[in-house]
Amino acid sequence: MTSLTVNGTRHDIRSEPDTPLLYVLRDELGLHGAKYGCGLGQCGACTVIVGGEPVLSCVTPLLVLENKSVTTIEGLGTIEAPGPLQEAFIAEQAAQCGYCIPGMMMRAQALLQRDPNVSDEAIRAYMEPNLCRCGTHMRILSAIRRAADRMRGGSTQTSGTRTG
Ligand code: FES
Ligand code: FES
Repeated sequence: MTSLTVNGTRHDIRSEPDTPLLYVLRDELGLHGAKYGCGLGQCGACTVIVGGEPVLSCVTPLLVLENKSVTTIEGLGTIEAPGPLQEAFIAEQAAQCGYCIPGMMMRAQALLQRDPNVSDEAIRAYMEPNLCRCGTHMRILSAIRRAADRMRGGSTQTSGTRTG
């Protein structure tokens, strides 16, 4: 049995050690925010945060996570009290189908919690591994800039051009 802390709660996990974290989250813990996209580490839909870094949970086996702390989209806020990124994605209407959005938010969260003063160029480069097949990248980038403003204690308005 593996011990795993998810969104601040410790769990004893029954899944086999080679089970991908994504299946543990969705099937054993009932956390359905992280999505199954490619299952091959190529799209980012399954991104969660482990130890402050974005991790592709579809290709991360349980056995490398013993006693690690995992944060999923469910850990960023609630409907009643959304976190800065959740608020910003809503305000910028960044989702079309929404399938990529939890992974996008988790990658952005890892970046902004390390450095909310990050440049636009650095945001673009950092977000590159996460794909959006609906093509809402420009709105997603606007939402991340809005959340960065908020996390710096500034205005919630963005200066980005919204074309997507
Ligand atoms: S589902 Fe994990 S990277 Fe695509
Ligand atoms: S909003 Fe549909 S894949 Fe990104």
